[in-house]
Amino acid sequence: MKKIIFVGGKGGVGKTTCASTLAFKYSKKEKVLLVSTDPAHSTGDLFDIEIKKKDEKFRYSKNLDILEIDGEKEAELYISNIQKQCNLMLSPVIMGEIKGQLKRAKNSPGTHESAIFEKINKIILKNQEYDYIIFDTAPTGHTLRLIKLPKTINIWMDTLIKKRKKILMLKNMKFDRRDRISDDKVLSLLESRRDDLLKIYKILSDSNKVSFYFVMNPDKLSFLETKRGVESLREFGIGVDKIIINKLYPDSIDPFWQEQKYKQEEFIKLIVDEFKDKNVLTIPYLEKENQEILEEIGKII
Ligand SMILES: Nc1ncnc2c1ncn2[C@@H]1O[C@H](COP(=O)(O)OP(=O)(O)OP(=O)(O)O)[C@@H](O)[C@H]1O
Ligand SMILES: [Mg+2]
Repeated sequence: MKKIIFVGGKGGVGKTTCASTLAFKYSKKEKVLLVSTDPAHSTGDLFDIEIKKKDEKFRYSKNLDILEIDGEKEAELYISNIQKQCNLMLSPVIMGEIKGQLKRAKNSPGTHESAIFEKINKIILKNQEYDYIIFDTAPTGHTLRLIKLPKTINIWMDTLIKKRKKILMLKNMKFDRRDRISDDKVLSLLESRRDDLLKIYKILSDSNKVSFYFVMNPDKLSFLETKRGVESLREFGIGVDKIIINKLYPDSIDPFWQEQKYKQEEFIKLIVDEFKDKNVLTIPYLEKENQEILEEIGKII
């Protein structure tokens, strides 16, 4: 594994287009897995394919596999897994009480993001044979704080593991049994969770391996959102490698549109100044067909 690239940004700015372009470009020489979280099927459109099954790799070419994931389904799975794990550990009375809360949690935006992040982690751990894994979404700093706290997580998980071992030993003693502690489901769940968290922490905190690209359009809302996104990542010590300003107005013979273009250019100067420590790229609005878009944008990013 050489690199994991997260392509983030506001809805509709061009994340899927940029992520697909990068995947297409790198797959000319190296092995790439493109992971799409796009509900609008833009990935399929760009590559002129129909991806029928979510959560199953689609082999586009010798070097490029595409995996679409379904955010809704992941959120459901995430909650039902938590429920299953709680069932293992908690009494039916307590379970009855938290069932309603779990149901409500399913629809909160935080759950959706955590579920996708959990899925991203699984995909990274399972697909280490690729040179590149490119995601057309990026976790926020808020979500990443979980893996940025390995020490806390480690201490917390180790305490839970020790406690569980103690309970099992006491149970064995009390009932004069010789059950193998390592056969305990709760214990293996805790241990595998801790091991995965440590592995993913090691990968994601390696700034040589992980890149964050932010896509934006040259408008105020997109700019503010990007600023917030970059700041939230910075808070957790994560840098953004590239800022891509997408869909710039072309030159126009119409005076109104040419005026808009000049205004946009002024605004772009502001953006470049704000992100002067970063690599800022611009992509024009292209009136082209899918495959041509991939080739054309590939020359820029
Ligand atoms: N440079 C460009 N020139 C012309 N059209 C573009 C360009 N970049 C993106 N588009 C078009 O804009 C639309 C949105 O792009 P895309 O699907 O890549 O955005 P997104 O950020 O992934 O959106 P979402 O948040 O909905 O997933 C698509 O129809 C795409 O073809
Ligand atoms: Mg998209």
